Amino acid sequence: MTTTETERERAAGAATYVGRPVDRLDGRAKVTGEARFAAEHHYPDLAHAVLVHATVARGRITAIDPAAARTVPGVIDVLTHENAPPMKPPPAFSALDLSTFVSPTSVNYLATDEVHWSGQPVAVVVAETPEAARHAATLVRPAYQELPAVVDFAAEEPGAVPQKGNPLQPAAADKGDAAAALAAAPVKVDLRFTTPPYNHNAIEPHATVAVWDGDRLTVHEGTQNIAWTRKHLAMRFGVPERDVRVLSPYVGGGFGGKGMVWAGTLLAVLAARAVGRPVRLALSRAAVYHTVGGRTPSTQRVALGADAGGRLTAIVHTSVSRTGRAGGMAEPITAATRHLYAAPNIHLRQHVVQLDLLANSPMRAPGEAIGTFALESAMDELAWELGMDPVELRLRNEPERDPVGGQRLSRRLLREAYAEGAERFGWSGRDPRAGATRDGRWLVGMGMAAAYHPSLVLPASVSVRLGADGRVVVRCGMQEMGMGAATVQAQIAADELGVPLSSVRVEYGDSALPDAPGAGGSAQTASVAGGVLAACDKLKRSVLALARRAPGSPLRGRRPARVEARDGGLYHGTEGESYAAILARAGRDHVTAEVKPSMPLFMARTLLEHRRWMKAACGAHFCEVRVDRDTGEIRVSRWLGVFDVGRVINAKTAASQLRGGIVMGLGMALSEETLVDPRTGRIVNPGLADYHVPVHADVPRIDIHYLDEPDPRTPLGLVGIGEVSITGVAAAVANAVRHATGRRVLDLPITLDKVLPGQAPPP
Ligand code: MOS
Repeated sequence: MTTTETERERAAGAATYVGRPVDRLDGRAKVTGEARFAAEHHYPDLAHAVLVHATVARGRITAIDPAAARTVPGVIDVLTHENAPPMKPPPAFSALDLSTFVSPTSVNYLATDEVHWSGQPVAVVVAETPEAARHAATLVRPAYQELPAVVDFAAEEPGAVPQKGNPLQPAAADKGDAAAALAAAPVKVDLRFTTPPYNHNAIEPHATVAVWDGDRLTVHEGTQNIAWTRKHLAMRFGVPERDVRVLSPYVGGGFGGKGMVWAGTLLAVLAARAVGRPVRLALSRAAVYHTVGGRTPSTQRVALGADAGGRLTAIVHTSVSRTGRAGGMAEPITAATRHLYAAPNIHLRQHVVQLDLLANSPMRAPGEAIGTFALESAMDELAWELGMDPVELRLRNEPERDPVGGQRLSRRLLREAYAEGAERFGWSGRDPRAGATRDGRWLVGMGMAAAYHPSLVLPASVSVRLGADGRVVVRCGMQEMGMGAATVQAQIAADELGVPLSSVRVEYGDSALPDAPGAGGSAQTASVAGGVLAACDKLKRSVLALARRAPGSPLRGRRPARVEARDGGLYHGTEGESYAAILARAGRDHVTAEVKPSMPLFMARTLLEHRRWMKAACGAHFCEVRVDRDTGEIRVSRWLGVFDVGRVINAKTAASQLRGGIVMGLGMALSEETLVDPRTGRIVNPGLADYHVPVHADVPRIDIHYLDEPDPRTPLGLVGIGEVSITGVAAAVANAVRHATGRRVLDLPITLDKVLPGQAPPP
């Protein structure tokens, strides 16, 4: 009846679904177009909304005249701060109520004449067609009184102030005396890195369809957290939570950009209330840039000291990031540096500046993604200083316990990842000299870097219904953003109940379902798996209870501990019967079990456990790049990622997600960069024509290898995989470029001008 028994069954080689690369269950609906995303929901009297964006970074609206827009045929209304119905102000962030996390800004849209960033929505045009709304929006041209704005990160960065941390993410650490150890170290590097801002570019731009029925609200939305979105909307519009339903069964990618409630969602709901009709607000790509925060830029210093044998004696990592003055969370840029390498002296500090720009937002591995660029580049440079293989350097500094916190390591197969990766990639065949490997006009280099992201498990409510026909329905308000979330939970439930995968259906993406944590922090799969395991266990107990007291049942009086779920029923050795038979005997047409973990209790346990055990996903990237010796063109030609992500439930969907993180990392490394005009604070490249995400031609074959060992302290041994794969990617590329050309690029993205021959080498 317990997970342990299922484990035994698995060990005995019984056919199970966990571990099998099954196709994603929603794949067919997606490729046939049957899957409807947020913007694709139609209502008979649907109206269309378009935002008008402020063109100054800071100021007051002195005049806003909707008259011209109203003359456009089909325009229904123009909402401004002068006529919009009020929303309640956004809640401030509170660590005691994590749902406040989805409130990214203190700005209450259309409530005042104030402008806090260039691009802030200052009006909403609602029309019969998207075209009319779009045209009319161009005719709303507010007059502004401009106020002085601080928008230039590079100029403000020296005035940064220390970040505030929280118990799970401290903003500083001191162990020993890193400054003294660094000064005394016989071998050292001391480098300054910069990373640019990056914007969210999910394949599905943010969209909302909002429908009011009296004071009841239904919202079709692409979101990473329906429960918190519902709570936030209820609060902002002054209606009970039970009267708000958020539907989000299909989401075209989130990556952190759909984890919060941004302007488009709120203003769609506001517009629908104002015009008394369903309203669709589908953001243009540019509107996503202007209203949905992106990744902070950063300046980082990493200084490493080592003895002659390559053992680290000092690690210094300091960072500056930015938030908006009207919101945004300071990024934990040095987070991975707390965990990656053993050193007796460690000094970590995170600083932040506030600018008059849109609030920043989480983006895949916020903190670690850019922090590991600096740390892992510096480690590589230290290997050059030492004349040591970078894999060997990392092996020599692999800790036995968490380097800062001192916790024991729940499971950490980084040594194995380095060794396995080096072997599979052919690392030993690499000529260690810089610039020594050539292929015609190409300079060829190999680079590697570590990947690391902590693992988190949150409470998830789940219900499981078993029908007399043997069909199982798992219900959980989790999110499917394309990563295979529902598929893996169906695999888990099928195994736990001993039924075929084809008889399991998973319902998700609806706030009317039991509450689950959002898809964020790489936490969803393990969290929901915990709920699914518990609910299935409860269900089996209920079903067995029916059987045990039924006269004539082969399970009558059987001890629960010896009963297992298999072959579509419950069995004690060879004795037992199908679920259908048990339910029929008991006169039931279904049995349902639900688990609802208590959030405070769960979090208290999590914090306690965090003091004793460090749990994380980790891995090693290996790559080959080719740099054109005359033009500086950089092509990534080969990639291997070896990951320790605990037990792999579905090697197919997991590989796809890990590859996605690597592709996103390639964009970070080589081409992506949000350009903010340092005078006006305006994003000048808000679209895919000017902001370059990797295309197929930029992405080589990416091999993924799993170490596939369960974590002893997580549900099913699962460790989240959403974020780990982007960490270390940019460093691996930079390290390969260093090997190919002899040039250390410290400033992302690594564009060809930074490696062109004839450029002065960096100091
Ligand atoms: Mo994320 S950046 O935890 O969606």
